Order: sequence, then structure tokens, then C-alpha cells
Amino acid sequence: MRIDIITVLPELLKSPFEASILKRAIEAHLVEVHFHNLRDYTSDNYKSVDDTQFGGGAGMVMMIEPIDKCISALKAKRTYDEVIYMTPDGDTLKQGMANHLSLKKNIIILCGHYKGVDQRVRDHFITREISIGDYVLSGGELAAAVLCDAIIRLIPGVLGNETSALTDSFQDNLLAPPIYTKPREYKGMKVPELLFSGNFPEIEKWREEQAYQITKEKRPDLLED
Ligand code: ADE
Repeated sequence: MRIDIITVLPELLKSPFEASILKRAIEAHLVEVHFHNLRDYTSDNYKSVDDTQFGGGAGMVMMIEPIDKCISALKAKRTYDEVIYMTPDGDTLKQGMANHLSLKKNIIILCGHYKGVDQRVRDHFITREISIGDYVLSGGELAAAVLCDAIIRLIPGVLGNETSALTDSFQDNLLAPPIYTKPREYKGMKVPELLFSGNFPEIEKWREEQAYQITKEKRPDLLED
């Protein structure tokens, strides 16, 4: 998989890809992540990427030309499955969407800034608009990093234990069951006895029941879909 991220602040985005699982995925060539600074696609001396709104109103708007130039340069080299725009008014990111995107070959992610982008960018270049939640960030970069993390960890081979992504919370519209490790007892706090029984079908059944109960308690909305 290849991810091209278009941003005015590449330095804000890079560090999540330089540590831990994402770094290892890149080093193992399971994913390529490329950053494109929108200012490299500007045509004036000031390297302007934004301007005031037509019709008046507070806040600057990202201009269509540098975005078009950058997307066109990328599209001239390969075909893209999706051109995603990170925006608080997009579709809310859910596990199912991450699963779906993890199967794509090439995607572009455009990070918004200021008031947002000229509507013509959204109408003509963007295939999908994604929000990471109902709150406003100062730019799309942190949202793009969240999206990339959610996608990349699902690519086969990225997680050490192939099954571990499948047992994450949300994978069956259920939250994850409780987990325990050593010591068996800590300051009087005990691990459920069943987990030492060696009866794996019973343990599995217990985990499923726990996942259901926890979901019912914390996120009953997940059981409604
Ligand atoms: N840009 C600003 N806020 C955002 C959000 N909540 N999700 C995605 N992109 C954003």
C-alpha cells in the first residue's frame, strides 16, 4: 500500500511514522508513506496556499491551484483508489472504514487548514471526506495520522500476531473483553479462576459473554446496528 499525504505542515505529521508499529511497517516495505508540502506547488514568491473568502467572512481558504497541481502530479504517476479529505464535517471514522481502506493500493490524503479548502476541490478531486470525531482540530494533520495508524496496523504482516487485529474492540461491533497477565494475584486482587482452567472453549465463551456485557454497558448503540 502507498499513502501520499498533502499538507502545509509536514513536520507536524512525520513523528508518528518514525516510531513503533508504523515505523516497522514502513521499514518492512509493507506500506510507503510520502509527504508532499503544498507550498512546493505554489506559483507566487510568497508560496501562498490560502486566500480570503469570496463574499466576505472570517478566515482564510485553501486555494484550488496548488492542490490541483499536487494531486495532478501524483495522479500522473499512478492511479489512486481514493483521494481523502480530512475535515470535521466528513463521515466519522469507524473500524469498518479503516478495514475497507486497508485493502486499497494507493490513497491520497489531503489535510485541511484555516477555514478549509475551496469547495471546488471537494466537488471535483475528493472521493471521500473523513472526520475523526465531532470536535475541531487546528488542521487535518493529526486526524490524518490517526487515520493512517488505524489503516496501517490492519495491513497483513504489520502486527506481530496476525490474529490480534481481529480481536480488537469494534471488529465485531463489540468492545474487547478484559485481559490479564502476571501476577495471578496482586495485593488481594485476583484474576478470574476460569482463565487457569485450560478449558479453552469455556474461556472463549466467557470472553464472548464479557465482550457482550461490556458493550451493553458502555456502548449499547453498537448492539443496535
Ligand atoms: N480537521 C479539523 N478537525 C478535524 C476532525 N475532527 N477530523 C478530521 N479532520 C479535521
